[in-house]
Amino acid sequence: MTNILCIGAGYVGGSTMPIMASHCPEHRIVIVDINEARIAAWQSDQLPIYEPGLDEIVRQTRGKNLFFSTEINRHIAEADIIFVSVNTPTKTFGQGAGRAADLQYWEKTARQILENSTSSKIVVEKSTLPVRTAEAMERILNSNGSGLHFDILSNPEFLAEGTAVRDMQNPDRVLIGGRETESGQKAVERLVEIYAQWVPRDRIITTNLWSSELSKLVANAFLAQRISSINAISALCEKTEADINEVSNAIGRDERIGRYFLRASVGFGGSCFKKDILNLVYLCEHYGLPEVAKYWEQVVAMNEYQEARFAANMVTSMFNTIAGKRIALFGAAFKANTDDTRESPALEVCRALLAEQADIVLTDPYALDNARYDLSDLVNRVTFEIDPYVASFRAHAIAILTEWSLYTQLDYERIYNSMVKPAFIFDGRNLLDHKKLYEMGFNVYPIGKPPFTRLLTNNFMHA
Ligand code: NAD
Ligand code: UGA
Repeated sequence: MTNILCIGAGYVGGSTMPIMASHCPEHRIVIVDINEARIAAWQSDQLPIYEPGLDEIVRQTRGKNLFFSTEINRHIAEADIIFVSVNTPTKTFGQGAGRAADLQYWEKTARQILENSTSSKIVVEKSTLPVRTAEAMERILNSNGSGLHFDILSNPEFLAEGTAVRDMQNPDRVLIGGRETESGQKAVERLVEIYAQWVPRDRIITTNLWSSELSKLVANAFLAQRISSINAISALCEKTEADINEVSNAIGRDERIGRYFLRASVGFGGSCFKKDILNLVYLCEHYGLPEVAKYWEQVVAMNEYQEARFAANMVTSMFNTIAGKRIALFGAAFKANTDDTRESPALEVCRALLAEQADIVLTDPYALDNARYDLSDLVNRVTFEIDPYVASFRAHAIAILTEWSLYTQLDYERIYNSMVKPAFIFDGRNLLDHKKLYEMGFNVYPIGKPPFTRLLTNNFMHA
């Protein structure tokens, strides 16, 4: 039996470790966190995150070979392998503020591991970290005078929220980076053995530490770059009567380009894309590569442009004023099938419309609590409403901001009849049947396609 510890019971620790526990019944896995409420929730029937399929796996493994605890020191002492999946947000202060990763939680954890260890251990970087972080970690951990030895591995996580269970059960690849020393390679092999319990060996890639650390940042940068690229083209489509869905399909059918991550949208959100690209930008600057930094920075700039463009288009299309108009925002989560609202474009659009003094009603099936928390500075100016029919009642406009399948199943005739006319739908996810909605009477504004509208021009008040 191996004693496995995971420090950090957030989205990553909380969704990967139960699956590992389910495939490795002979190992004992403990997940710890400083957040007592979070640990209590993991021990209850109401898990702290919404992730389809996870409840079942936690129920099957909890109390058998999976345990949640706040006793970090004790479990560090007992562990053979420690995964660290604490948060690594963008630094908000000092050198590198707004770009570099804030490694204070990571470093604190490393020191805590050192202070509480009485045996040698493998420490696995599960959090997303700047390339060469392991070097600093090795220095801290191996600075003990007690003869203990720590092998640092990089094993970045590639799961996406909403599909975390599927991604962990059946990953495209597992990446493990380690030192090219005898002890480093032994540590790599030990981790390979654990994953090999359910992942085919040819999908387990082993590399040097720096390639592994860097590949995680690069994977997110490439994914986000595709979205910014297609979103950039969506703006051109709106000017030229080309249709972004047709363009996506036409280019994505080329196997060299591939069809994934070409869905034009109101913008990408989530806790990682922006943070990881900015981190990459910071690293490039740090290593004296300003041209490379600028290239990647543009991916984030394009995303901010897309969010701002969407909100601005709403204002222009609604006769250049939305002050006092009730607008229903469908979706708060940064994508469907999660309650996560971190960096959600829905909240960016919400803030932009509030700045125009709109009367905002926000609806979402799972993410309203997180949205209320994120918008706590504006909470008195937003109505939070779980029922989309109530949210859109007497509204001037609806904006689809999260691609919940629920929104494709609503009775839009009923919604149309309850709205102020002319009624508008701005579809930030190209989710709905635009022609059908237009025939019902709506003025429909998709992304990257000409609008379906009876109004003369988008800004005829100023024409
Ligand atoms: P999260 O904020 O949901 O969870 C992090 C947890 O770590 C929190 O519960 C926090 O209380 C805990 N923590 C912080 N310091 C601690 C300490 N000293 N001791 C014990 N616990 C501590 O973050 P997350 O979304 O799980 O992301 C974690 C890391 O994984 C980040 O580096 C992120 O970039 C990366 N990542 C996230 C995702 C994702 O989908 N969310 C996917 C891949 C990689
Ligand atoms: C992303 C990556 O997909 C994961 O591989 C990675 O592990 C994770 O970040 C991370 O490091 O945190 P996630 O942010 O959970 O996962 O979700 P994605 O499915 O990547 O979507 C991110 C954002 O892009 C969402 O707002 C989504 O709506 C948007 N998106 C995605 C588009 O606008 N168009 C697309 O074609 C795809």
